[in-house]
Amino acid sequence: MLRATEIKPDVYWVGGIDWTERNFHGYTTDRGSTYNAYLILDEHVTLIDTCKPQFADELLERISDVIDPARIDYVVSNHVEQDHSGAIPAIMAAAPNAKIVTSNPHGLKGLQAHYGTEYEYIPVKTGDTLCIGTRTLTFTSTVMVHWPDNMVTYDAHDKILFSNDAFGQHFASSKRFDDEVGLPEVLAQAKKYYANIVMPYSRHVTRALGVLGGLEFDMIAPSHGVIWRSHVAEILETYGKWSSLQPDEYAIVVYDSMWHTTEVMAQQILEAFIEAGIPARLFDLKVDHISDIMTEVLSARYIAVGSPTLNNGMMPTVASFLWYLKGLSPKGRIGIPFGSYGWGQNGPQEVAELLEKCGFTQDFGMLTHQWTEDEDSLEELHQAVLDGIKRVNEQ
Ligand code: FEO
Repeated sequence: MLRATEIKPDVYWVGGIDWTERNFHGYTTDRGSTYNAYLILDEHVTLIDTCKPQFADELLERISDVIDPARIDYVVSNHVEQDHSGAIPAIMAAAPNAKIVTSNPHGLKGLQAHYGTEYEYIPVKTGDTLCIGTRTLTFTSTVMVHWPDNMVTYDAHDKILFSNDAFGQHFASSKRFDDEVGLPEVLAQAKKYYANIVMPYSRHVTRALGVLGGLEFDMIAPSHGVIWRSHVAEILETYGKWSSLQPDEYAIVVYDSMWHTTEVMAQQILEAFIEAGIPARLFDLKVDHISDIMTEVLSARYIAVGSPTLNNGMMPTVASFLWYLKGLSPKGRIGIPFGSYGWGQNGPQEVAELLEKCGFTQDFGMLTHQWTEDEDSLEELHQAVLDGIKRVNEQ
């Protein structure tokens, strides 16, 4: 028998725990994930969100731990994406009289496209409310955080913000709350989630934070990971910093290599940043996953990317990273293309072209080396990086 967890009086977590999920749309989820749903027992029984279709049985079993699912009156769907709406058909089969509350127009259109028009829908907009007895739920659109349909649900009686994807983490745990896991772990997971899912929509996050700032809540219940109850102020402040996209004085050096020359260049570039007093970190695309590197892109002002020339272009691992970066890239970064070559510079040249498409400035120029390195060429490279840092800081 699977159990529900009471998170406040008469409010229960009834979600699914996905212990074995390891890849979420190309984002490595080393700790799995959860698909959180919440059940409110009031005069009208209300379910906030559902889960992936394959977790429908788990969801229904946890609901049954508290109440007969047939008694659900409202299903609030904060977001159409199937990790949160996928069990709606199973819930509606168990609770045929339930009405589905969704954002207007995008939530309504999305749910009807996925699940048909036969259910009874209640489309809502920002500021609309739903009285479920003692409690009144208030809905706020969080458009493009990270789909057009996203909304959050506020329960003033319990001071809970049901935030859906916002403030989430892909993190499976037997614990339900931030203070049971520890802030460093939860923040690390939340940062990876933000960088890989939310970062391109940071402007919309800033706007949403402004709207939510007017609400009084002491619990944020997201749709993935653990619930914020002891570190609400910290995650709000941290989202404010992340959504500003302001980088730290920090460098990452990302590369792949064939015969080690680009690798040696990468190490030399790293050394120059360290000598300049700038924290720096090295990533080898043969062993580091692009979604882990993206977490560091959120903080880094300098992003050096290196490839030798292979088959008259950049290496496929580097192309994969840069293509992923192009879709997520924050503005206000400095790109540093580099790499070695034998008779054609197309490897580093293609890196430079994609860094330009990311919108990065390239204040250091393109740093290349023909054939193998020697002490003099490495010293030149080291000095070129130091000179680049100096130029940037004099601007
Ligand atoms: Fe967790 Fe946008 O879905």
